[in-house]
Amino acid sequence: MIQRGRLITLEGGEGVGKSSNVAFVTAWLEARGLEVVSTREPGGTPRAEAIRALLLDPAPAEPLSVDAELLLMFAARAQHLAEKILPALARGAWVVCDRFTDATYAYQGGGRGLDAERIAILERFVQKGMTPDLTLLLDMPVEAASRRVSSRLDDLGGERDRFEREQRGFFTAVRDGYLTRAAAEPERFALIDAAQSLSAVQAQLEITLDQRTALWR
Ligand SMILES: Nc1ncnc2c1ncn2[C@@H]1O[C@H](COP(=O)(O)OP(=O)(O)OP(=O)(O)O)[C@@H](O)[C@H]1O
Ligand SMILES: [Mg+2]
Repeated sequence: MIQRGRLITLEGGEGVGKSSNVAFVTAWLEARGLEVVSTREPGGTPRAEAIRALLLDPAPAEPLSVDAELLLMFAARAQHLAEKILPALARGAWVVCDRFTDATYAYQGGGRGLDAERIAILERFVQKGMTPDLTLLLDMPVEAASRRVSSRLDDLGGERDRFEREQRGFFTAVRDGYLTRAAAEPERFALIDAAQSLSAVQAQLEITLDQRTALWR
């Protein structure tokens, strides 16, 4: 029997270290002989990245309605699944994704206040029951994460996107949204203390990957 690949997602608020650790998780899996596709949401394919640009535009010509934001997130996800994630899993590759549907529950649900059941309707429509095999939730206090984002902007330049311009209350609600989801599905989620040094975070990731993926490799 050909075993399909596994989907591992990295989640957490702004600046917790998701992007920094996608490469680490990818390298860890590749070192065990697995084919790995690393990608991100919203985006991951040319058309989905075009939708990402609409979602993150810091100075849109008109406000983006909350429902339109939710639908665009799932439109991007539908394209990403069809063109990249599902074909990769079908050929046995593992997929490491920077954000996925838990981010929709945390940001559009927790942050924007949308009813989780409306999100669940779209999740069922777009994913047809498919969910990540493992979700690494990088968790840390909002203020310390926000300082990381500021220093990244100082170092690398760029400007804050439409989400990064939100107020602290929004990010606190996002963090609470993630923690609520992790508590509800402890077998899928692994909680990582993202406030530690990068090397300590990666040591914790390594232990988690070893334990959680042992039966799949
Ligand atoms: N454990 C850590 N300790 C200190 N700094 C870190 C740590 N992890 C990441 N950083 C730094 O913090 C900044 C934010 O990290 P990164 O961009 O990986 O976060 P992110 O979760 O992808 O953020 P975003 O949600 O904005 O995409 C970067 O400048 C990164 O180098
Ligand atoms: Mg990032």
